[in-house]
Amino acid sequence: MEEITPEIAQKVRQLEEKFKNSGQDLGSYLDGLLHDRYLTYWDYISLDTLLSLQKTKTHFPDEEIFIGYHQITELFFKLIIHEQKQIVEAENLTVPFFTEKLNRIIRYFRVLTGSFDIMIRGMEREQFLKFRMALLPASGFQSGQFRMIEIYSTPLENLVHMEIRKNMPPEASIEDLYENIYWKRGATDLSSGEKTLTLKQFEEEYDPKFLALANRVKSKTLYQIYQQLSSEEKNNKNLIEALRTLDVTVNVNWLLMHIGAAHRYLMSKKGAVAATGGTNWKDFLPPSFQRISFFPELWNEEEMKEWGKEWVDETFNKKMHSN
Ligand code: HEM
Repeated sequence: MEEITPEIAQKVRQLEEKFKNSGQDLGSYLDGLLHDRYLTYWDYISLDTLLSLQKTKTHFPDEEIFIGYHQITELFFKLIIHEQKQIVEAENLTVPFFTEKLNRIIRYFRVLTGSFDIMIRGMEREQFLKFRMALLPASGFQSGQFRMIEIYSTPLENLVHMEIRKNMPPEASIEDLYENIYWKRGATDLSSGEKTLTLKQFEEEYDPKFLALANRVKSKTLYQIYQQLSSEEKNNKNLIEALRTLDVTVNVNWLLMHIGAAHRYLMSKKGAVAATGGTNWKDFLPPSFQRISFFPELWNEEEMKEWGKEWVDETFNKKMHSN
């Protein structure tokens, strides 16, 4: 039998050291290693499970595209939150680390914005209009991860609906702010005060989780982490550029691409078709209505006034007309 090389002997000693305090001896672990199956790609990424999750509600083939693309988006949302958590939880945050993580998030959102035409052109409208009726009252509006991305990004006061934001008292509690968040207002009939069923279900599932998160990140959302940097760090050009780009990428570009899908499928000659989530979506979805900016300090008054408009004029309208 071949000699055990000093490198292997050294590794065995290191392993012995590692397992010393675990109450089991190295021999048992080596037995495990001996009998272990080789790892395969499909097991490692749980491929069978992943591919079993596209459970359509109807027989229309294009519904599979609809589910698949929503799931792809939610996986990207998960990666985005993963980056946000690392920023929020960093003990000694540096500007390069912060910037690098923001740039990753931007890249993820760019992929999502760039791939939205899977939704905009990828399904037959006739099929969509039929299978969507089997999905009532579910809506992407109920994407909990999208809301978490917002809550990690900025304090709740920046997510309060524009019209009431300026009237919120400075001492308003997290709960008060949360009750006035823009998406709740968008899904409430303002004259009767009645909430849509979609919103009621969303609240039941997520309110406690969102409130817990908002309390956890009370003074350390991405925006506040930026604000707490030294003035020299705050002036870092790459960081400012990353924050501004992220703001536009999420709150204007992704949003408008998404509206492109809503227009394609829900507008008819007779006007807007009612959405599965029951919002008055033509008013609710546009960034010029929501006017959500995660990092308002980084925009001047003029830029805020024109929020989303330039993009609409230059890109969105042109695109819609050329389709
Ligand atoms: C054909 C494709 C799509 C259509 C027609 C569509 C339509 C809509 C409509 C009308 C709303 C407003 C709420 C309502 O009344 O239902 C909405 C909200 C929303 N949808 Fe979609 N959607 C589509 C695809 C997607 C995809 C792929 C995602 C990815 C997760 C998504 C995520 C969202 C989110 C996060 C909201 C809330 C937006 C906000 O509050 O600003 N949607 N969608």
